[in-house]
Amino acid sequence: PHNVYRRLRAEEPLHWNPSLKGWVITRHADASLVLKDPRFSAAKLDPFLSHIGPDTRGKIERLTAVLADWMVFNDPPRHEKLRKAIAKYFLPQEIARLHPMIMQRVEELLDGFRGRDRVDFIEAFAFPLPARVISDLFGVPRERVEDLRKWSENLKDFVALARATPDKYDRASAAANDMVTFFRETLHDHRRNPRDDLTGRLLEAGIGPEGLSEDEMVSTLILLLFAGHETTASLLANGLYWLLRNPASIEALRRNRSLIPGAVEEMLRYEGPAQTVTRIATEDLRLGDADIRRGQRVFVALNSAARDSTVFADPDLFKVDRPVNRHVAFGLGIHFCLGAPLARLEARIAFDRLLSRLPEIRLETPQPEWHDELVTRSMRQLVISYVM
Ligand code: HEM
Repeated sequence: PHNVYRRLRAEEPLHWNPSLKGWVITRHADASLVLKDPRFSAAKLDPFLSHIGPDTRGKIERLTAVLADWMVFNDPPRHEKLRKAIAKYFLPQEIARLHPMIMQRVEELLDGFRGRDRVDFIEAFAFPLPARVISDLFGVPRERVEDLRKWSENLKDFVALARATPDKYDRASAAANDMVTFFRETLHDHRRNPRDDLTGRLLEAGIGPEGLSEDEMVSTLILLLFAGHETTASLLANGLYWLLRNPASIEALRRNRSLIPGAVEEMLRYEGPAQTVTRIATEDLRLGDADIRRGQRVFVALNSAARDSTVFADPDLFKVDRPVNRHVAFGLGIHFCLGAPLARLEARIAFDRLLSRLPEIRLETPQPEWHDELVTRSMRQLVISYVM
């Protein structure tokens, strides 16, 4: 997509795309404006559902009830209520306490690299790490982690506007039913045995007239599972890919580990997991020389904003030591990614341990196949060989 983005940024930064039936915003400045402007609404579920036939809509009722509770699809004041309920738990200083747990999960997965000389990094590391971390946060038993992972995959094709495969509604709807049942049980179990984990905190947020309902808690757990899984997996995989494609950068990190946090920011900028975020115009308005009509969809191309040469020097170079990095990979404004501190911590620990335990890593998929999707940016496979 980067060639397309480059052309659009130069020639048509506010582009009406007839097949998407929406505007594509590619410059950093416009992206920032849209994400901070309350006239662009995040409540896009209803317009989206209106494109779906009534038969299918009936089938996915449970699913749509869950999605309607997601803070990311809500505007103020409901957005604020849903976000406030768990925002404290995701503050960087709170997330920092998870360091030992994340370290342990990383080491376990790297132990699994022993006795082999190559793995699909996505299968062996990038996917399972965030699933295990989030399961620990929720207090979910180990034997159910695989279920969580399956559910979030099945939900994804629906939420991420993936090209319609005939069964995507059935899979997403079944996953939503299973998740609702499972997280209701998790909440009940935590009521019986109170624990100081994320589920415990969410239960506290349910107290009082302003508190969350049980359905809202369940939906929030599903959102956190979903929002925190594939995105973090793609950060790890896309990031490792570009490190390996730029051997000087990996050598620089091996010599100087304090470069890792900056390198993670560069990974987020260079090939961020969230390709676009969508908004709906709530009134007719003018942006640059575009007349945007009420109800029209606007796709903010985060990964294009990330290569805007008016903001980033040499935007197409992967530089782990960029002194400042104003990427928008986590979005901007009131919906700025709640899980950013967690994703950053996971990635920093993961790359630090990866470099320590694998003194040699080689890319065996020089031209990986990327998923053809609008919302996310991820690869199908990333085979690496290594010496341990
Ligand atoms: C929102 C990206 C990891 C939870 C967002 C948004 C982006 C994003 C772009 C804004 C969406 C919008 O404006 O419409 C990412 C990336 C991640 C990541 C690139 C990993 C590298 C996580 C993790 C969690 C999480 C680990 C939690 C466990 C959320 C939540 C929201 C959100 C709850 C909604 C916030 C709101 O609406 O106020 N994320 N995310 N994310 N993210 Fe993340």
